[in-house]
Order: sequence, then structure tokens, then C-alpha cells
Amino acid sequence: MLIFDEVITGFGRIGGAFAASQWNVIPDMMTTAKGLTNGSIPMGAVMVSDSIYETCMHGPDGMIELFHGYTYSGHPVAAAAALAALDIYEDENLFDAVEQIGQEFEQAVHTLADCPNVIDIRNVGLVAGVQLAPSDKGVGKRGFEVFNRCFHNGTLVRATGDIIALSPPLILESKHIDRIVSTLADAITASA
Ligand SMILES: Cc1ncc(COP(=O)(O)O)c(C=O)c1O
Repeated sequence: MLIFDEVITGFGRIGGAFAASQWNVIPDMMTTAKGLTNGSIPMGAVMVSDSIYETCMHGPDGMIELFHGYTYSGHPVAAAAALAALDIYEDENLFDAVEQIGQEFEQAVHTLADCPNVIDIRNVGLVAGVQLAPSDKGVGKRGFEVFNRCFHNGTLVRATGDIIALSPPLILESKHIDRIVSTLADAITASA
């Protein structure tokens, strides 16, 4: 069983609709959320192969198939937001736009290699990870300090331990890239 967690990579973030389709892999299951509604309202979706679907649909006679209802499952407002987001992705060619701005983002993010304590930088499309060396104060302390400095300077990044994760909106422009990268460079340098 191959399961792809496409909660972050799905819906254009890496330039194609999904990482699976981008790399020509057909997983048995895919989990999605975030970009499904453009994050405007909570909703997640799990996609499964025909064989898994058929197995779930053929339970014991007289039983409800795939019994998995939750109070807010399939909420109409969330479903409307998801349909609207999918239309906008298509109408505004946002996945294609990621291909282009993604290259600019890649170049800018890799300039952070010149900052102190940066030990690795990874990226694809509009997602990047900037790995920092742990400080003497303990693992995760430098990452949290950088997160805090960025936050106070108006740029929200995500710190997972000492890795700064970036996943900016698909409507990213050059001026936003400049702002993100310069704020981050200042924060990393200040936390040296
Ligand atoms: C890759 C990945 N998978 C899953 C999740 C969890 O998603 P949810 O909060 O929709 O369950 C996250 C949350 O950030 C994530 O980054």
C-alpha cells in the first residue's frame, strides 16, 4: 500500500496538481487538506484507488458501507469553498504560475546559504526548508528564535525544530519573495 500525504504538496504547491501526478506515481491513497479550500475553511479529503473503494463498498449485507460520518463531514460551506478554490486555480492558471515564480523563489531561498549556521537548504516549487545548526542552548532553540524574530518583523514562517519551513501563497510575487528572504536572513544572522 502506497499512501501519499499531499496535505502540503497538493493543489499546485509544487507546480503540478499533486506531487503524485508531477512525478508520475499512482499511490493507492492520497490525503489532502489545506489547499483544497485555499485554507479558507477547514476541509480534508482522502482519495483512494478503485480497488480500495470497491472493497469499502462491499461490506456485510444490511450494513451501511464505509460507515465514517462525522458531525461536520461534507459541510456545504466547506464544499462550496473547495469548489470555488478549484475554479480559481484553473481560471487564473495558478499552477502554471508556480512553475515560473518557483524558480525565482528557489534562487532567492538559496542565497540564505551565506547566512551563519545554515547547514542545508531544500526546495521544490513553492515549498522550502532551511536547516539551521542547533545552538548550544539546545535542539530547536535557534529555529524558535528565528521564527519569533520573523514573526515580530511581520513574516510568518514555520519552525519544525531547527528547520525553517516556507510554503508561501500561490499568488506570490517578487516583492513578497524579497520580503520573506530578507526578513529571514536578518533573523538568522541575528540569532547567530
Ligand atoms: C504534510 C502534512 N500532513 C498532514 C498535516 C495535518 O493536516 P490536518 O491538520 O489537516 O490534519 C499537516 C499539517 O500541517 C502537514 O503539514
